[in-house]
Amino acid sequence: MGSPDDAPSYTSGRLQLRVREVIRETADAASVVFESPHDGFTYRPGQFITVGAQLPEGLAPRCYSLSTAPDHDPHPAITVKRVVGGQVSNWLIDNVAPGMSVDIISPTGGFTPREWTHDFVVVAAGSGITPAMSIIKTALMTHHNAVTLIYANRDQESVIFADTIAALQETYPDRLVVQHWLESERGLPTAVGIGSLIAGIDDGAAAYLCGPTPFMDVAHEALEAAGLPVARIHRELFYSLTTNPFSAAATTTPAAPVSPGQPAETGTRVTVEIEGETHEVAWPRDAILLDVLLDNGIEAPYVCREGNCGGCEFILTEGEVEMRVNDTLDDFDLRRGARLACQSTPVTDIVGISYDS
Ligand SMILES: Cc1cc2nc3c(=O)[nH]c(=O)nc-3n(C[C@H](O)[C@H](O)[C@H](O)COP(=O)(O)OP(=O)(O)OC[C@H]3O[C@@H](n4cnc5c(N)ncnc54)[C@H](O)[C@@H]3O)c2cc1C
Ligand code: FES
Repeated sequence: MGSPDDAPSYTSGRLQLRVREVIRETADAASVVFESPHDGFTYRPGQFITVGAQLPEGLAPRCYSLSTAPDHDPHPAITVKRVVGGQVSNWLIDNVAPGMSVDIISPTGGFTPREWTHDFVVVAAGSGITPAMSIIKTALMTHHNAVTLIYANRDQESVIFADTIAALQETYPDRLVVQHWLESERGLPTAVGIGSLIAGIDDGAAAYLCGPTPFMDVAHEALEAAGLPVARIHRELFYSLTTNPFSAAATTTPAAPVSPGQPAETGTRVTVEIEGETHEVAWPRDAILLDVLLDNGIEAPYVCREGNCGGCEFILTEGEVEMRVNDTLDDFDLRRGARLACQSTPVTDIVGISYDS
């Protein structure tokens, strides 16, 4: 975070956003609403930004999902819940104020619907409602989907967006069903309990799950038992970054593009579509794709570099790659060609990839 300035700036996927408002949502959660950026900032429902908090101990990067709907909310916002002993969540809630500028990396992530032609089942716990809110609002307000929301919380007081959800229910009584699961009344969520709330869902529905792993595991079990194919169940796990994506710009070197058609000297040749431009570069067999792109001056997106945030996702258009780690893409993503640049090594001599698809 830095001092206020006149306009958000945009460099290499890094932006400064000005804080417009901080809204206390519950005793331990707050939304940080930003002024609308002029350009360089677009997002899909369910995606996240990476905030670079300038703490006294140094820069601490953390991911936060956008809780707003891109087509409807004029100002993008994140919603942060305190984590006991957590550095950045507490710092954001206690220190951020209107007028401050926040360093961020622009929105990314694969936890976002690609089709809006089916019903949605959204299963969230606690702060997991954040990306869910963006998806639900878009499904109801931009599209015509039916949505079932199952939302688990400790007690009534910890329900984030309680009023917004109630208002959506009033506006869309035929298309939105909300089932609150309060631990204070029902204990921890179980597969059988969640199953009873989703009985009769259409097996063509798509499910979006966000919350702690044990919670998502029981929800997954219930959805599969209800007949939903695994490929239609998408999960987003919240965790703290252990790498620093803000150091990227310093490590990149100017582009050395190969002319289209000119063979690469060694290994694989990869053609990259990004931001409406096409690049062709050599890709040594044992090299990680993201490193190759950055070394060639191509500003490919990334966040964690550990294979678990989805921030470096691209679509394979030709050839094949192998991923060392994949903790984020599910069967559905893999079938539509999604791969992680921070984990990919080449399998074929010719590879085509797109960030624009
Ligand atoms: C894609 C994505 C989207 C996300 N979206 C949201 C969102 O919308 N809202 C939201 O609130 N969060 C979200 N998160 C989580 C967020 O990024 C942070 O992980 C969260 O805010 C906690 O960060 P922190 O700095 O407060 O906690 P940290 O400082 O990272 O600490 C986390 C926990 O680890 C413990 N801990 C830390 N260091 C140590 C140590 N050395 N030894 C033992 N224990 C330790 C802390 O006590 C604490 O309990 C998201 C994460 C991802 C990956
Ligand atoms: S940058 Fe996070 S999965 Fe690749």
